[in-house]
Amino acid sequence: MEETWQVSFESIISQIIEQGYGILDSFLSEGEIAELNESFLAHYRASEFKQAGISKGHEVVKNIRGDEILWLEKETANSVETTFLARLEEFMNYVNYTCFLGLRSYEIHYASYPVGTFYKRHLDKFRNDSGRKLSFICYLNQNWQADNGGELVMYLPDKEELVLPLAGRLVVFESDKIEHEVLPATRERRSLTGWLRNID
Ligand code: OGA
Ligand code: MN
Repeated sequence: MEETWQVSFESIISQIIEQGYGILDSFLSEGEIAELNESFLAHYRASEFKQAGISKGHEVVKNIRGDEILWLEKETANSVETTFLARLEEFMNYVNYTCFLGLRSYEIHYASYPVGTFYKRHLDKFRNDSGRKLSFICYLNQNWQADNGGELVMYLPDKEELVLPLAGRLVVFESDKIEHEVLPATRERRSLTGWLRNID
């Protein structure tokens, strides 16, 4: 692994241990952000996105969750998507090597929050266990401004923190520990969101 990634991955892990979640800016380069936005648009224009559901039953409930998603499959990923998945696998391997979480698989989707939509406070882990250990979100929003909103609210034991969805930023936290929420935005809000799991 490149040494730069090792330092970055180590930083995410120590932030999770110290404050419950970790942030890494520039998980993606400017070029990768641009290419992933192109891929996102191509999928979106091909009507591949579907309204997201809120549990394993996948009921659509827009007053809880308003995003549209597209699951990313390794077998059909294009070049930049493959680069993204490979970097994430490196992170997963690094976490296994250092933290003994026994991560074995992952699931990832693109997410689009149309203007004004949100995802109310929730925990990512399903009640009937899905093996989700770590949640991650990587944002694709070029030139996002603070007044565009769309913050991720992290509900920590003693405080709430707001995280702006800036392009290339990766946020990671323990799926069964941190409740969080997505606030409405004045622009469409894009990300790649997923989970590292301890089952296949
Ligand atoms: C989710 C989620 C957070 C975000 O998809 O479960 O909480 O910032 N996303 O998009
Ligand atoms: Mn969530």
